[in-house]
Amino acid sequence: MLGRFRRLYRAFKQTVATRWLPLVWRVCVRVPGLPDLYYCFSSAFRREHRAVLLGKLQHQQDMHDASQAGAEYTLRRNIHRLEKGIISRPRRSVFAADYIGDTVGVYLALANSQDCRDRPLIQWARDVLGKYFDIVGEDARVDPVREKFVAHDSFAIDPTPLLVPYQRDQNPLRIDYEGLAELAWRRRSVRWYLDKPVPRDIIDRAIEVAKLSPSACNRQPFEFRVFDDPKLTQEVADIPGGTKGFSHNFPCVIVIVGDLRAYFSERDRHVIYVDGGLAAMAFQFALEVQGVSSCCINWPDIESREQRMAEALNLDPNQRPIMCLSLGFADPTGQVPYSQKKSLDEIRSYNKK
Ligand SMILES: Cc1cc2nc3c(=O)[nH]c(=O)nc-3n(C[C@H](O)[C@H](O)[C@H](O)COP(=O)(O)O)c2cc1C
Repeated sequence: MLGRFRRLYRAFKQTVATRWLPLVWRVCVRVPGLPDLYYCFSSAFRREHRAVLLGKLQHQQDMHDASQAGAEYTLRRNIHRLEKGIISRPRRSVFAADYIGDTVGVYLALANSQDCRDRPLIQWARDVLGKYFDIVGEDARVDPVREKFVAHDSFAIDPTPLLVPYQRDQNPLRIDYEGLAELAWRRRSVRWYLDKPVPRDIIDRAIEVAKLSPSACNRQPFEFRVFDDPKLTQEVADIPGGTKGFSHNFPCVIVIVGDLRAYFSERDRHVIYVDGGLAAMAFQFALEVQGVSSCCINWPDIESREQRMAEALNLDPNQRPIMCLSLGFADPTGQVPYSQKKSLDEIRSYNKK
């Protein structure tokens, strides 16, 4: 009796999933506004919605509190915008007038704050602001801010080298296309590792390369949370799923965590994933050239796993895992999947409309 009931229930669930729900989706995608209504009744985006909103709120509050990370994100973004103004061709006589007041305000708050951990950021900001005020034309909105900046009794900062726009080294690189292609072919997702710890200096050197990756407005809204303690590694490696049957052999696992506090608007909500993904790729290449292999591990947006990861890493609600990575010295007896790649013609088009 119970078995029959179970079978009936399974068949009912199957019908809902394969027939009724797709019908609802078909209607929803045709009528503007209906997808919003649909997701009102679904928890699929619940955590993300809250995290984006919370990040935005904190970003706004941080503007008035130099001890908070959001103030540093604002300064990073604005100094980046100033540098773009400085290098633009032709350069306008007056630019950035609409945000220079806020920028100097947040700069002074951070520069005078003992809590600001990112002193290189302050030096970069100071140098770029100095350059900006040196070249910007007279303007009723800019001039009072210039006076405020100049009057600031700045703390001792090494004046050389000036952290301002420069011309890149034009000498040929030591790596060529063939070398890079060889590296790209060599890097494969390796899932079987030797029982051997990865020296931290190798990981750190790889992160030094990863942090040079591009990021939207240079905000660098991510961090690498490294676990190389065997017990903690196992604890974290078991959370994402997608690692069943091989997570027990990870000597080290990393969670790349994004911070939605970096943004004042929902429009940038995807940026942590783009920026974190770019950094992950550079990181993997930098590991590979040092003889260490790795494998990306998906971070699924599943509430129970989100909760476990948030607890394990003590994450703020505005912080979200972007992806995990396992790494280690490849077991030479282990294999990697062939993982056929699409052809150039499949993924490339020029001027296609
Ligand atoms: C975002 C992302 C998530 C991934 N998640 C997993 C995962 O959970 N488990 C796994 O074994 N491999 C995972 N991989 C590795 C892919 O399976 C692998 O990159 C792909 O099959 C291509 O193989 P290759 O990396 O050797 O070129 C992931 C890769 C990416 C980029």
